[in-house]
Amino acid sequence: MTATQFSAGTDTPVWPQLETHARRLCALSLRALAAADASRFAGTSATTAGIVLDYSRQRLDGDVLRSLEALADATHLRERIAAMYRGDHINQTENRAVLHTALRRPRGASLLVGGRDLMAEVLAERERMLDFATAVREGKLLGSAGQPFSLVVNIGIGGSDLGPAMAVQALRNYTAGAPRCAFVSNVDGCHLADVLEHADPARTLFIICSKTFTTLETLSNARVARAWLKGGLSEAAVPAHFAAVSVNRAAMDEFRVHPDYRFAMWDWVGGRYSIWSSIGVSLAIAIGRGAFESFLAGAHAIDTHFALAPWRANLPALLGLIGVWNVNFLNLPSHAVLPYDERLARFPAYLQQLEMESNGKSVRMDATPVGVATGAVVWGAPGNNAQHSFFQLLHQGTPRAALDFLLPARSSCGSQAQQDLAIANCLAQAEAFAYGQPAANPHRVHEGNRPASLLLFEQLDPATLGKLIALYEHKVFTQSVVWGVNAFDQWGVELGKNLCEAITPLVSGTQHADSASLQGTLDIIRPWRAVK
Ligand code: F6P
Repeated sequence: MTATQFSAGTDTPVWPQLETHARRLCALSLRALAAADASRFAGTSATTAGIVLDYSRQRLDGDVLRSLEALADATHLRERIAAMYRGDHINQTENRAVLHTALRRPRGASLLVGGRDLMAEVLAERERMLDFATAVREGKLLGSAGQPFSLVVNIGIGGSDLGPAMAVQALRNYTAGAPRCAFVSNVDGCHLADVLEHADPARTLFIICSKTFTTLETLSNARVARAWLKGGLSEAAVPAHFAAVSVNRAAMDEFRVHPDYRFAMWDWVGGRYSIWSSIGVSLAIAIGRGAFESFLAGAHAIDTHFALAPWRANLPALLGLIGVWNVNFLNLPSHAVLPYDERLARFPAYLQQLEMESNGKSVRMDATPVGVATGAVVWGAPGNNAQHSFFQLLHQGTPRAALDFLLPARSSCGSQAQQDLAIANCLAQAEAFAYGQPAANPHRVHEGNRPASLLLFEQLDPATLGKLIALYEHKVFTQSVVWGVNAFDQWGVELGKNLCEAITPLVSGTQHADSASLQGTLDIIRPWRAVK
């Protein structure tokens, strides 16, 4: 059976059943659901590999859950997972396999794709990358002036930035003794200038991460970085200070990246799924080989779980199916991600690309309209800060959001007494959102019924971070299967890129633009940008 022969959830008889459930559930408060079933927590929580998904505060019951399980079966989720893992070309619009799961398989694993053992290549490149990262981390790889690197600057954007940038911050506990890792993505020049403000070129290593090596922002920053290095050292010094990760060998040749300092990736790794590849080299430098391998192992544990666990115990499938329930049946178009650990500050931004670039589609794999919402607008911030800024709208505002709370029990920095306060804050918020509070004064009423899930874990360590990311990757996959969309292309971003190419010369030039609104804007900007 090819992927195009699978039905989307909307075409199955389960969809109208869920609509009926939604009409019933809308009349039932979370308070009433909790009161009706003393064992609700046991039936609405699941655990795997040290991570607990508590969805007892979701607005659903056993009948809804049974229908959501039926939806997974009706859309052949199990077969679709197997097809992804074995390297079928499930990214049909680009005719590619989707094999980020291969990148986290352990040493000794094999994976025959088209008669060739893909794992041999994957493991060899992983070893090369880890050897390089170890040499940089331990100060054994030296710059052109014979000095170890004290600053590693990852130049990339989107999937070539968000993953390593988020993970290096999250795993700061594991970075002792490593060079400082900084991340530059924004094309405006300030991002790079700020990172290089006090940097010593002799002790700076740049890593250009770009799957395509054609991305405007990355190439522009890379060229400015090269000029900075040449200015501070010399042209001859440049190769000892530039590494790169890409599928585009010709472009790396053109940039004169030293053969020992370049790392391959494959067209079957999507940008937003690439942290497991050599795109993670800055993370490997920051946390070291052992911790990076634990990070991969954590994700691999979730891959196995996703493929094998029954739906009711399957954390990624549950996240995905509950998300479908919230988006399509409870009509919640917004999803806030709220970590109660400052180290996870960039996790919401990471999930924004993962979820919104993957499933932000209007047509199904077979090019027919999807007809229902595909995904929520994902956003978020560390929860404790958010309580004092945007939570008011979430508590009492008319727009509604579904919420994910991420909660480690142990402090990521040894301040357990303070983490205990963070835990109390998180649980208090979850309770308030779910169960609310009646009041005589309408201004003080908390209606509740704002659904939330909690992801609980002992501590934010490399394996746990790997697990969390993989959970959300497979959540996204589950939803793409239900909606029948391709989660692995991103054609929508191309138009803006192409227009930017055409508009770039107009910004500093004098030519007339075809569009009247564009010309009007240029008329304002041109004199302003020229003012000294
Ligand atoms: O513009 C979107 C995108 O293509 C993402 O999918 C990708 O992660 C990012 O740009 C960067 O792409 P590259 O790694 O090829 O520079």
